[in-house]
Amino acid sequence: MKVLFICDNKEEWNLLTNLFHAHFTGVDLVCVLKGQEALDTIMFDANFSMILIECGLKENDPTDLAEDIFETIGPRPLIFIGTQAMIKDRVRDDFYNEYENVGLYQKPYEPQEFVGVIKEAMEWSKQHEFENAVVELNPDDFLPLKLRNFYLYDQVPFDVYIELTKTKYLKAISANKKYPQSTIQDFRKRNIRYLYLEKNEHLNFLENSIKKISQSFHQIKSDDRNRRMQTLVAATLVIHQYLRDVGVSDTLKDFVDLYIAQVGKTLKEHTSLNELLLNFPLEQADLAEQAVLKALLSEFLVRSLGWRSDSTRAKTTLASLLHDTFIEREEWSVITYKDHPHLDDITKEERENFLAHPLKAAETAHFFTQYPDVDFIIEQHHEQPDGTGFPRGINAGKITKLSAIFILANNFVIQMVINGVTSSSLQNICQSFQGLYNVGNFKEPFGELIKELKRK
Ligand SMILES: [Fe+2]
Repeated sequence: MKVLFICDNKEEWNLLTNLFHAHFTGVDLVCVLKGQEALDTIMFDANFSMILIECGLKENDPTDLAEDIFETIGPRPLIFIGTQAMIKDRVRDDFYNEYENVGLYQKPYEPQEFVGVIKEAMEWSKQHEFENAVVELNPDDFLPLKLRNFYLYDQVPFDVYIELTKTKYLKAISANKKYPQSTIQDFRKRNIRYLYLEKNEHLNFLENSIKKISQSFHQIKSDDRNRRMQTLVAATLVIHQYLRDVGVSDTLKDFVDLYIAQVGKTLKEHTSLNELLLNFPLEQADLAEQAVLKALLSEFLVRSLGWRSDSTRAKTTLASLLHDTFIEREEWSVITYKDHPHLDDITKEERENFLAHPLKAAETAHFFTQYPDVDFIIEQHHEQPDGTGFPRGINAGKITKLSAIFILANNFVIQMVINGVTSSSLQNICQSFQGLYNVGNFKEPFGELIKELKRK
């Protein structure tokens, strides 16, 4: 076991080294002078089961340093050591209260008392497996999975890791051990978006998720509209991941059919478009939430324009699921024109890939042979009626009505993400669309959108 002590008084190094030597055999106390040195040390070797920070540090704020350490290697037992005044001044209550594993030790050092505090923290550390949590793994054997997927479970049958460097991983969740939802929320707070698991386990995870979500869909009561929408978001996450890592399989196709039916059910559970959009659980506005919103909005327009055929209605939902699957970065999902500033600072290859994402996604649609023409809808989802879109820059005259509906839904949802979702923002988006979408095959669906949004 290793303990890191950050303190700029070397006399205290000696004192603690002797105490550890006398009371904790097999425990390695590593002493460093400054915050940066501490961060370098844990980046090189993150196997520290406990951190001690002396609050008199001159060059660092002890609480900021503790936050940086937790952000790097995750929360673990940490003790702030200092005089009563130093602790009061320099340990922020918000940080101290947030973590049950953060403690205080008030100086002067009383050997027996100090040893007791360290022993207690060590016990906690052992129970929570912080020892040897960092491992060297071959990145070729591991695949990332979006963090949100893990909300579906409270335990998984394999170890799950956080990537620290290209080859170093920190075990985040142990196989077959229950984890609370707060564990996933903590990762999210630390800006961790992906967890890693072994390639073989990856497919198992996705297929189990499909089974689990399918069962959930069948169990949702008709008055639980919110749950159906949340389950659609969870399903979208899994479908996106499956498409990227595995491709299209029969399992996926059956799941997509179920998904399409559930979008239809969700629409029947809402009385107006306003109600549907304003009640949507938009939390992260990520690709998955956007896809569900686009599916609901486009199918709503298809229905209100009087298309009765199930397969026509299914087409816009399938387009919603597939169209942005291959976007490399979530933040690019709101780009609607090819000269967007987000595209200035990226490599030529990244830019080309982004501008071609409609074509790549359209190819995936070919596997869903029971829904023809979805490839055209997907290919055209960034085209604009005035010809300023991409990838081909065609104009309203060449865009079919079904594509026009989807383009409208796509851009409307992007504006919802940018402007937020309130009754007035929905009206403002419509206003801003007046000049562009009141033409050709866009005219009728746009008119329908305005009419439906006025209905309460
Ligand atoms: Fe797109």
